[in-house]
Amino acid sequence: MTPRSFAICFCGGSGVAYGVRLCEVLLGGGHTVHLCATAAAIRVLVHEAAAAIDPESPDLRTLFPAPLRAGLHVHARDAVEATPASGSARLHATILVPCSMGTLARVAHGFSSNLIERAADVALKEGRPLVVVPRETPLSVVHLENMLKLARAGAIVLPAMPGFYHRPQAVAELVDFVVGKILDRIGVDHALLPRWQTPPPTAAGSPWDEGEA
Ligand SMILES: Cc1cc2nc3c(=O)[nH]c(=O)nc-3n(C[C@H](O)[C@H](O)[C@H](O)COP(=O)(O)O)c2cc1C
Repeated sequence: MTPRSFAICFCGGSGVAYGVRLCEVLLGGGHTVHLCATAAAIRVLVHEAAAAIDPESPDLRTLFPAPLRAGLHVHARDAVEATPASGSARLHATILVPCSMGTLARVAHGFSSNLIERAADVALKEGRPLVVVPRETPLSVVHLENMLKLARAGAIVLPAMPGFYHRPQAVAELVDFVVGKILDRIGVDHALLPRWQTPPPTAAGSPWDEGEA
């Protein structure tokens, strides 16, 4: 497929592995990735991914093998002059993954107080795909109202909720399930998740057949 440009934003929700994997797939497919992370995301990254990243001077490029880095542009969170900050950049999609409840709230209310919030705001105003991948549980009324506000504004709210019907055997498969869902919504072909088909009948009869209890 034609190479496209994406903004990928890591926020301080749990599950930074989703964001890293999304970048890997897009970069591996020859796409351009504009990557930015909040300060909280760096802390979560160090904690969850055991990443050898200095929280005081993070270098997100080191998360990816050298052959993938050609299309990678890492921006500081206060770099409001960076490409994703302008609608004229015409990025194909902006994805906040994982998205913290804090960033989600600020985007829902148009704060634009850093590059990530601005990139999300730009996607909404330009009518370009904005995918937010929230991770929190349980959800308060505040969280739910902010998600509804974003959905009504045109964002795709895609919670990090992997399915289990493909019988995953490893964490990586759960990660790929969510990343595959994101890729589906931004129109990027992939084979990360199995496509559901009616299961074949078993000897005992199929519980999927009409009329079965
Ligand atoms: C290890 C760790 C896991 C966290 N997980 C979540 C989470 O799943 N969802 C969430 O909304 N916040 C989570 N937080 C809290 C956010 O990082 C915190 O609210 C932060 O201020 C969000 O900032 P940001 O929106 O600028 O990224 C977590 C924090 C840490 C240290």
